Amino acid sequence: MTAVGQDPETVFVVDFGAQYAQLIARRVREACVYSEIVPHGITAEELAQRQPAGLVFSGGPKSVHVEGAPVIDPRVYELGIPVLGICYGAQLVARQLGGEVARTGRGEYGRTDLEVVEQRVLFGPDQPLEQDVWMSHTDTIVAAPDGFEVTARTPETPAAAFESEERAIFGVQFHPEVAHTPFGQQILERFLFEACGLHGTWTMESIIDQSISDVRSQVGSGKVICGLSGGVDSAVAASLVHRAVGTQLTCVFVDTGLMRKDEGEQVVDTFHEHLGIELIHVRAADRFFERLAGLTEPEEKRRAIGELFIRIFEDSAGGLEDARFLVQGTLYPDVIESGTRDAARIKSHHNVGGLPEEMDFELVEPLRHLFKDEVRQVGEELGLPEEIVWRHPFPGPGLGVRIIGEVTPEKVAILQDADLVVREELKKAGLEREIWQAFAVLPDIRTVGVMGDERTYGHPIVIRAVTSEDAMTADWARLPYEVLESMSSRIINEVPGVNRVAYDITSKPPGTIEWE
Ligand code: XMP
Repeated sequence: MTAVGQDPETVFVVDFGAQYAQLIARRVREACVYSEIVPHGITAEELAQRQPAGLVFSGGPKSVHVEGAPVIDPRVYELGIPVLGICYGAQLVARQLGGEVARTGRGEYGRTDLEVVEQRVLFGPDQPLEQDVWMSHTDTIVAAPDGFEVTARTPETPAAAFESEERAIFGVQFHPEVAHTPFGQQILERFLFEACGLHGTWTMESIIDQSISDVRSQVGSGKVICGLSGGVDSAVAASLVHRAVGTQLTCVFVDTGLMRKDEGEQVVDTFHEHLGIELIHVRAADRFFERLAGLTEPEEKRRAIGELFIRIFEDSAGGLEDARFLVQGTLYPDVIESGTRDAARIKSHHNVGGLPEEMDFELVEPLRHLFKDEVRQVGEELGLPEEIVWRHPFPGPGLGVRIIGEVTPEKVAILQDADLVVREELKKAGLEREIWQAFAVLPDIRTVGVMGDERTYGHPIVIRAVTSEDAMTADWARLPYEVLESMSSRIINEVPGVNRVAYDITSKPPGTIEWE
């Protein structure tokens, strides 16, 4: 029996502190098997109760020989749940079951030749006997535990892969989850389908059906509100909830006037006109410009925008006092980071999005099990337009933090036009999905130029484009010169008042992605 509410084909990725646990979870999901990351402190009792269909032990930064190195409750091996240990995970399996892990001083790093010596479960008959794998280890598994068969070796690792088909326990010293291991996904899939007996039934349709039924049972006939930001997460969350409870959902969209060009109209068009979602659309640009007049200090500007946003949201949601539920676009990485397991009940002022103070909502988080790329797939499946599904992240205070100094309607108009060119050219070059964010910034300076025979004294525009995995760190994007050139000449020609374009070549750290 699986735990209540859990997909019967769920695999747990046990986290031993590697940067690879999330990647493993994603690879398992790519095989259409639902996976969750669990801490290594999970007990045999808990696993016996939750009954995952398989366990994958991740790699980890420690040596199994050091004191305090993470271990797993050894009774886990007696539960009959198939186990695949990867790197540190494999060393731990070897050590806990009586094999030998030695400090040979001859680790392997990077691409390594693997020789398959037995084609059993993990290495199928259709795989080559010589293959490339990606390694990163210092300790070496020199002997598999008794009763286990060594199935592959490398020049430095005599037991680079071992298995016991009978006990359904497997270990691989290399990393099957990385792209540099060409047969890695096949090996993982053989674990999932051959060893765990799974079928790969976790598809986009099943995710959507499950979310819809979860939302229905959570909210019953209650009223739900959702703040739309124009971003992909709130958009996908809102349309899922709408599929589930229809007119019980009302969305609130506060148009601050600081959004990207035509974004406000697009949100209204998509959600109200096309999806038929109840939408309170607040056109608040004038109030924001009035509030921002004379403000130049970045933190003051951010505070002013945030506070006004909350006040307006509060006023607009005023007619919805009976709403008990609030939709949040929380994603799985946020859940992993915060370590929370159960849906939290929060007071609104804890929420960054800006919510009424006195309202006490129960959160509806239909995306809390999904990674960003899965959210995008759900969005596509739900028929949301590509521009919303593939939209780059956008800061809450909007263009307010991309206009240095005082924010005025004139400056917003310049920046919106320049920003549109940057996005259009990036899309035309087919780079939109590779780049984390690309946008324009309007600094608070003037520069001298010459256009025709005339001297000009105009605004410069700075283009910022970065690659990133999670916005914690970022690298400036090496955009091709031709793309930069077309961005630059179009901005100068099409945006009145701009006479110079610069490209920001600062990574994060030391720079932040946004300029303010
Ligand atoms: P920084 O500038 O700190 O930005 O490198 C990291 C990421 O966060 C976005 N960002 C924000 N997002 N509210 C948000 O929802 C904000 O106030 C905010 N400020 C920055 C930024 O666009 C980048 O993706």
